[in-house]
Amino acid sequence: MTEKGISIGVVGCGYWGPLLVRNFVNLPNCTVAAVCDANEARLKHVGGLYPSIQCVTDYNKLFADFDLDAIVIATPVKSHYPLAKASLLAGKHTFIEKPMAASSAECEELISLAESRGLTLLVDHTFLYSAAVRKIVEIVEAGDIGDIRYINSRRLNLGLFQKDINVAWDLAPHDISIILHVLGELPISVNCQGNAHVTPQVEDVTNMSLMFRHKRFATIQSSWLEPRKIREMTIVGSRRMIVYDDLQTHEKIRVYDVRVERPPHYDTFAEFQYSYHYGDSYIPHLHQEEPLKAVCQHFLECIETGVAPMTGGRAGFELVRILEAASASLKANGAPISFLRPLDQLAFHDTGAPIKAGTASFAG
Ligand SMILES: NC(=O)c1ccc[n+]([C@@H]2O[C@H](COP(=O)([O-])OP(=O)(O)OC[C@H]3O[C@@H](n4cnc5c(N)ncnc54)[C@H](O)[C@@H]3O)[C@@H](O)[C@H]2O)c1
Repeated sequence: MTEKGISIGVVGCGYWGPLLVRNFVNLPNCTVAAVCDANEARLKHVGGLYPSIQCVTDYNKLFADFDLDAIVIATPVKSHYPLAKASLLAGKHTFIEKPMAASSAECEELISLAESRGLTLLVDHTFLYSAAVRKIVEIVEAGDIGDIRYINSRRLNLGLFQKDINVAWDLAPHDISIILHVLGELPISVNCQGNAHVTPQVEDVTNMSLMFRHKRFATIQSSWLEPRKIREMTIVGSRRMIVYDDLQTHEKIRVYDVRVERPPHYDTFAEFQYSYHYGDSYIPHLHQEEPLKAVCQHFLECIETGVAPMTGGRAGFELVRILEAASASLKANGAPISFLRPLDQLAFHDTGAPIKAGTASFAG
């Protein structure tokens, strides 16, 4: 680390990489020393925006020629593992975009590498750093909505079609990370159905279900084939319900005081009546900040303090394991895939990345 703070290199200057570059450039305790992209046109674009940043096309050069403390990986999923492995082997703290890697075996290897070298490994599950999701977790933990019965999430719009991953691997990581965080537990099984309408073998529409203990479940609809953009999640509790619409600028969360109850007992059918409750709904105030800025800041804090990231390798692994199960289910026409290997039998001992909110080291 120099007097300019943590020295960073960013690999991947496509759609998402430049947003990471902008956020790191604007943070006080770091310097973006160099960026790398195999595509010269994308490099030129970022180099034009930030003339002081060095540009290279070969990531080996990035690791070798600059005295970097940390590497940020914003390339397509299949390259996450080789790039992250090279970064960790070179002794760099590593930030990987979601999903962490193309398989859970790759994730496990990366976690072990980071652990054995004492390096920070953060996976960008961006939404967990957003004001809206933090507020939802606060409401749930305060017991305001009662026991969560189910969660339904829809993330739909027309394209950006990916060639190497299906829509579930592209869009559902956001929903899965939020759902695991809000419920504070991992699913016991996953099933997924879908269809590839445009690119053969690459599903552009999927419906995923996650089953949890005590009959709780979550459904996630993902689509690149939808006329309207929808980013909506409904959390149904026994006392209240939350609707989270991420496309709203100011009123992203609405809490509805509605519920329906069955009478505890009745003697005749005439006495039987469901009891519907309709109370006021309210819109909690959110202190808005760009979630990506919060992730970048958290990465730097973890490097400086040695604290485990809120979304470390383990959170990345758990998410990829769910995506793998979803792919297996797609192949089996939607059959449920159960998790046979309990998490406590894993080879690595990542003490960070708590799935349960509240125990997280991220202060926000
Ligand atoms: N957290 C979020 O909300 C969010 C949003 C969008 C994308 N992402 C993630 O960001 C990552 C990148 O997505 P994108 O949409 O920017 O992709 P993209 O295709 O637009 O850009 C990827 C860039 O990486 C470059 N690249 C690929 N392999 C390389 C290599 N080996 N060396 C150097 N450069 C290489 C490509 O030339 C390209 O410019 C993905 O993992 C994606 O899931 C995350």
